[in-house]
Amino acid sequence: MRHDPRPIGIFDSGVGGLTVLRALRARMPQESFVYLGDTARLPYGTKSPETIQAYARQAAAALMSRNVKAIVIACNTASAHGLAALQCLPVPVMGVVEPGAAAACEASRSGRIAVLCTEATARSLAYEAAIRSIRPGARVTTIACPLLVAMAEEGWTDGPVPEAVVRRYIGHILHKSDSPDCFVLGCTHFPLLRRAIAAVVGPAWPLIDSGDAVARCVEAQLIDTGSSAAGRQGTVTLMVTDGPDRFARLAGPILGARLRERDVEVVDIGEVVDAAVIPAA
Ligand code: DGL
Repeated sequence: MRHDPRPIGIFDSGVGGLTVLRALRARMPQESFVYLGDTARLPYGTKSPETIQAYARQAAAALMSRNVKAIVIACNTASAHGLAALQCLPVPVMGVVEPGAAAACEASRSGRIAVLCTEATARSLAYEAAIRSIRPGARVTTIACPLLVAMAEEGWTDGPVPEAVVRRYIGHILHKSDSPDCFVLGCTHFPLLRRAIAAVVGPAWPLIDSGDAVARCVEAQLIDTGSSAAGRQGTVTLMVTDGPDRFARLAGPILGARLRERDVEVVDIGEVVDAAVIPAA
């Protein structure tokens, strides 16, 4: 059997994609990973499609320069707007929207599915398309919850403040006869607020996190192409575009590791303001 020791590249705007990295590591401990958090340009979810695509291209190019064997876009916003553009790369590129949509279709009985996500993901209609391609009669309610990204990046994930914010965003769709019976955490930052979201939604309803579904897809892809790694324990390299100390502080508890600033590499992945967004004067 062939093996490929090269790492898998993963990117997100910040710490959210670590929820996907966590699922990937749990499923494939023998694999090595290179994670990029584009913290200098966070959040992605309030940006235009052109800007998100430009950021996604630069993040993918930075990972390709690390000789990765596959790329996981651990960001719904970048998956919704950038997946198609990145599929011309010479390695497999996987997003999080389709696996999340498939998991929701499986979990929902009524076909009434709520997707909590960023503004840009909501605007893209990517979840509606992915869910309806599997379940044409589904009724999809998409709700942009941008403040939850900031709360996750602040480490405010539990207690009355995040619960009040979640209630403000989704209170109006709860406890009705035609309420959704399944909630997709359609932003990779949101699993970090799972407890607060569950406290508002109630214990009966499934909260779908695409991490495990993505990990299953990546594993299947590597097995298919004979490019899994051998051995027992792979490595994790963490990179950010700004604020390594802050990132280390937040990432440690998510990954269950003690991280210091020196464990996080700072990289420059391109112009902070893309020429496509501000035309030359
Ligand atoms: N975690 C990302 C997502 O899944 C991006 C959040 C943001 O930067 O706005 O959409």
